[in-house]
Amino acid sequence: MTSDAALLAELEPTAARLLDRHLATSKEWFPHDLVPWSRGEDFEADYEWSADDVTLSPEIRSALFVNLLTEDNLPYYFRTIEAMFGRDSAWGVWARRWTAEEGRHSIVIRDYLTVTRAIDPVHLERARMAQVECGEVPEPGSVHDGFAYVALQELATRIAHHNTGKLLEDKAGYEVMKKVASDENRHHLFYRDLVTAALEVDPSGMVCALERQVRTFEMPGTGILDFEVHAKAIAKAGIYDFGIHHDQILVPVVLRHWGVESLEGLTPEAEVARAAMVKRIGRIGKAGRRLAGRREPAVERSLAAV
Ligand SMILES: [Fe+2]
Ligand SMILES: [Fe+2]
Repeated sequence: MTSDAALLAELEPTAARLLDRHLATSKEWFPHDLVPWSRGEDFEADYEWSADDVTLSPEIRSALFVNLLTEDNLPYYFRTIEAMFGRDSAWGVWARRWTAEEGRHSIVIRDYLTVTRAIDPVHLERARMAQVECGEVPEPGSVHDGFAYVALQELATRIAHHNTGKLLEDKAGYEVMKKVASDENRHHLFYRDLVTAALEVDPSGMVCALERQVRTFEMPGTGILDFEVHAKAIAKAGIYDFGIHHDQILVPVVLRHWGVESLEGLTPEAEVARAAMVKRIGRIGKAGRRLAGRREPAVERSLAAV
């Protein structure tokens, strides 16, 4: 496997090009423009929030809760990303820009939720404190693994935000989630195309990393209070589940876009990893189809269990 330092050096011009593309396709936006401030109210400090304040299903509340706490925590991924990419050149510029954009996502979602009172603000703040204090950030074992994980995770996050927005049945809420989802899409495109370039530099190392990341992939959310319960609800509402993971990420990106099945010249170890990954993707698709008709509790299990 190409070393981390060699892979980063080789791909620095690609990162610079993708960063330029990202900046050219990003339009400046402001969280305050999207928040329906006129719906806000003043409350006494001891006012107790009630679920009856806003009509919203528990599943959608779960999705908003997890999506926001994930965004709250993302800027802390900077620790891992900077350590992995370094602070110089296009890599450093990208890591800092990404961190700033992720911070904006939690600002806009929180302001929307505070004004609309869709979620208990006290519970939410306690959960944020607990989440950030536990300092859970992914620690991929190599740069290859890091690329693979974020490429999958950004797309998963985009899908979860967009699907949550659609279910809100509130124009303002939909626009908030759509705006955040469009940023996630640009993040995904940066990493997706980085993986494409890495597959050219070191196909075998990258295929092994993809296999590991597909096998162990979980939505970012470890450390969130009652994460398992919320993940179950999110799957039940069809916001994110095995079927979506298979049909909207694994097949179109891993199999089709990266074309892992047709890569040539792999080492024997990478051949084994590729076969295992393709088989696993098939199994995840099967599980998705099986669960589509009867969303059942097993759905929140780690994908590793499939
Ligand atoms: Fe985000
Ligand atoms: Fe993102």
